[in-house]
Amino acid sequence: MSKVLRSVVTGVGGYLPDRIVTNDELSKTVDTSDEWIRERTGIHQRHQAADGTPVSDLAVEAAKMALAAAGRTPQDVDFIVVATTTPDLTFPAVATIVQRKLGCPVGVAFDVQAVCSGFVYALSVADGFVARNRARCALVIGAETMTRLMDWTDRGTCVLFGDGAGAVVLEPVEGEGAISDRGLLGFALRADGTKQDLLYVDGGVSTNRQTGYLRMQGNQVFRHAVVNISEAVRAAAADAGIAVDSADWFIPHQANQRILQGVAHRLGIDEAKVISTVAEHANTSAASIPLALHQGVQDGRIKPGQLLLMEAMGGGLTWGACVLRL
Ligand code: ACO
Repeated sequence: MSKVLRSVVTGVGGYLPDRIVTNDELSKTVDTSDEWIRERTGIHQRHQAADGTPVSDLAVEAAKMALAAAGRTPQDVDFIVVATTTPDLTFPAVATIVQRKLGCPVGVAFDVQAVCSGFVYALSVADGFVARNRARCALVIGAETMTRLMDWTDRGTCVLFGDGAGAVVLEPVEGEGAISDRGLLGFALRADGTKQDLLYVDGGVSTNRQTGYLRMQGNQVFRHAVVNISEAVRAAAADAGIAVDSADWFIPHQANQRILQGVAHRLGIDEAKVISTVAEHANTSAASIPLALHQGVQDGRIKPGQLLLMEAMGGGLTWGACVLRL
């Protein structure tokens, strides 16, 4: 096997705003119930950023934690990509705001917009830099304030989402070109713009100059999610040259416990290998995978050297999967 550069995760961080909104609290203002939300989604609560807290603040906290875990400082960072669909401002990119707030030197910084699939897309983009030795210390962040996109009169959507941020540090490390290498080993990214109507925000700079509200045909998205994600996971596993059932942990985007179970069942993945945070975090869009990864690392379940399968699906529709050896 010839030597190859791999993008290796050297640190993981996660941040959730202090305020917790339970299903019971929501049901005081929304026509819903704790029982309905738990039964249909698995969600018990969500975190909500305080008014006036921009998404970049959440991203900065997650990034600081990831850098500390990697033994790096902001001075080392030469590349930042933030996956978000809820930026502080229309421009500049949240990544440049994070760069300023962390005090990183001049480098590469930009955002990726692929909604809930954003973190998987951003990892793939960052891999294009790190594994070509064009970045030495990359921050890949998923950060969202999804509660700001909610129409609080639409009970079919407003109960599903929460705020938070997760981050990883990626660094180039020489590998053997084998599946035993640490780092990002395989990807499958997908998009189908014809499915826009299933999940979108009804506002934007160049349409009505509004932020808009999230609109979703939940049951249609659900159907597509289980089928499409399974295909992408198999494709990412094939790209990496691994068998799906050889993964130590399955880290899905956290939209709905029933989707997590449906995908795991379809792929023959043991439910005990699924990292689930949906009960406590709800759907934090691009932040959900790095937050789940962080939780698994923090509680000691996910260990260095283990093989991870990550997947997501979101507005676009976009979806994708990747294989990572930690
Ligand atoms: N509380 C009480 N009742 C509700 C609520 C609620 N919060 N929401 C909907 N209902 C009602 C509906 O009004 C409907 O009532 P009706 O039969 O009297 O008309 C009934 O529940 C069933 O509605 P469905 O939408 O068919 O319910 P379903 O079982 O499909 O669950 C849900 C809805 C939870 C949204 C589910 O479809 C889902 O999780 N879909 C996937 C969402 C998702 O994964 N999104 C991921 C991407 S998100 C992103 O990319 C930003």
